[in-house]
Parts: sequence; structure tokens; C-alpha cells
Amino acid sequence: MADGERLICAAGELTEGGRGVRFELTRFGKVQPAFVVRYDGRPRAFLNQCGHVPVELDWQEGEFFDDSRLYLICATHGALYHPASGACVGGRCAGRGLISLPVVERDGHVYLVGTQ
Ligand code: FES
Repeated sequence: MADGERLICAAGELTEGGRGVRFELTRFGKVQPAFVVRYDGRPRAFLNQCGHVPVELDWQEGEFFDDSRLYLICATHGALYHPASGACVGGRCAGRGLISLPVVERDGHVYLVGTQ
């Protein structure tokens, strides 16, 4: 693990379009929920906070993808986000995307980069 990185999970815990791994990080002095999923072969991490109302997305812990396994979905009102970018692609997020977090996959593990 390099300086400024924090271990999130083993790479094998993330399958394409499968369950995500929840974690927490401190941003601006506040502990916030976050998650990482695998999409298009890469880990993608975001704050676990909907663009509509700042609630967590997962309807069951770790379940972030919709039935198509192509989009991330908010369980509360169904806003859809693109898993590569976190951009709002439909529903009540109304153009407000998820906040993405930098992650790297290396040597069988996924690390959060450049955060506390
Ligand atoms: S709180 Fe997520 S769509 Fe309304």
C-alpha cells in the first residue's frame, strides 16, 4: 500500500455489476458513508449519498445496481446513476450526480487514494 492509500477490500469481493462494498471515509472533518462497485472491469467508488435527498442509496446493504445491472439506483425514489461516472441518468437526481472517489486496484486489493 502506497502513502495516501487506504485498503477498502479484496479485489475479488467486487464482481461485475454485483454487490458493492460499503466503507466510510472522513471528508471535511465528517465521517461519511461510501461504497465501491465493479463496472466495466474497474472498481468505481462514490459517496453513498443520493443527488436528490442526501440519503444512502442501497435498498439492501451492498445492493447498488438496478435489475439491469447497468445503472446504480437509489432505493428511495429510484434515481439512476451511471456507474462509470456517477452522472445522473434519470429520475429525481435531476442532473445532480454522485460524488466519485478515487480508487485503484493493485495486487489483488482495492485502495482508496488520497483521502484520510
Ligand atoms: S432520495 Fe434518492 S431518488 Fe429521492
